[in-house]
Amino acid sequence: MDMSDRIGEFVFFDYEPGEADMASEVIEGLSGQPKQISPKYFYDQRGSELFEAITELEEYYVTRTELGLFETHLDEVATLLGDDLCVVEYGSGSSLKIRKLLEAVTPDAYVPIDISQEHLKANAERLYEDYPWLRVYPVCADFSQPLVLPAITNGLRKVGFFPGSSIGNFEPAAARRFLANVHTELGSGSALLIGVDRKKPVEILTDAYNDTKGVTAEFNLNVLLHLNDRLRATFDVQQFDHDARYNENEGCIQMFLRSRTDQVVEVNGQEVRFDADEELHTENSYKFHPEEFRAIASEAGFKQTRQWSDAKDWFALFLLEAI
Ligand SMILES: C[S@@+](CC[C@H](N)C(=O)[O-])C[C@H]1O[C@@H](n2cnc3c(N)ncnc32)[C@H](O)[C@@H]1O
Repeated sequence: MDMSDRIGEFVFFDYEPGEADMASEVIEGLSGQPKQISPKYFYDQRGSELFEAITELEEYYVTRTELGLFETHLDEVATLLGDDLCVVEYGSGSSLKIRKLLEAVTPDAYVPIDISQEHLKANAERLYEDYPWLRVYPVCADFSQPLVLPAITNGLRKVGFFPGSSIGNFEPAAARRFLANVHTELGSGSALLIGVDRKKPVEILTDAYNDTKGVTAEFNLNVLLHLNDRLRATFDVQQFDHDARYNENEGCIQMFLRSRTDQVVEVNGQEVRFDADEELHTENSYKFHPEEFRAIASEAGFKQTRQWSDAKDWFALFLLEAI
């Protein structure tokens, strides 16, 4: 069908990922040993902008490599997927990748899911303007919890899209649970296109998360400013240092914020005590051998249709089918 025959539509669905949940989840994480916070709280407006800046860094091979795989293989992906599709993107952000996918696959509908409401709305509106033939149904939700897609997409074959190796932010058991939720949400017979960062020499990994311009450090520290804003917290970013290192046993890069001194911070009216050198764990980024990822996907009910890797075997793109 000629795209000009299609008439788009825009409907925003707010599932209200709650403020109350955020306060209790953050306080619980800050009360544990070691202290931790979910990486989903990186993404206020500034966090999203800083993530975009990271994707353009020399050391951050991830986005470049994944886009290279898109360049080479998206036509084949489109042929394998066929017609009458609804692309569902988990954690849509504002990347170039979705534009490449929409242009190759030309789905009937696109459902970007993101927790960051304003950013989601602005980006989804921009996409709708640029692709007037597309039905765009943004969903503001926390994708780590089970959700039900808007009924307005019933009847279209779902294609999940989860690029950027965001799957690596989950612990292995949580990654399995997330993929099982995705399987339920998209339904049997649907597809999932997912980008997965591969295991590689440690130096390349540590450089990618400790860039010389300090953008990753600023991104990491920004989570504290986000908490100040949303939970009336009193973090002073000058009193914390960024650290990112590879955990060989776990097979993941781990990011931390290390307290420079003994200090007490208020969060949502509660006092949180940090010792000097105490670390707040902010992110895991698991790296996978392809067979490790295939095993997790298979336990969640997906089978591999195709897998592509770059010439250096640094990154893998999987097209999976929900069975
Ligand atoms: C790293 S960006 C990825 C953007 C884009 N998909 C890419 O690969 O370049 C992650 C996006 O996921 C969103 N996000 C992170 N955790 C989320 C969660 N639990 N639920 C919904 N959105 C989430 C963030 O707000 C952000 O826009």
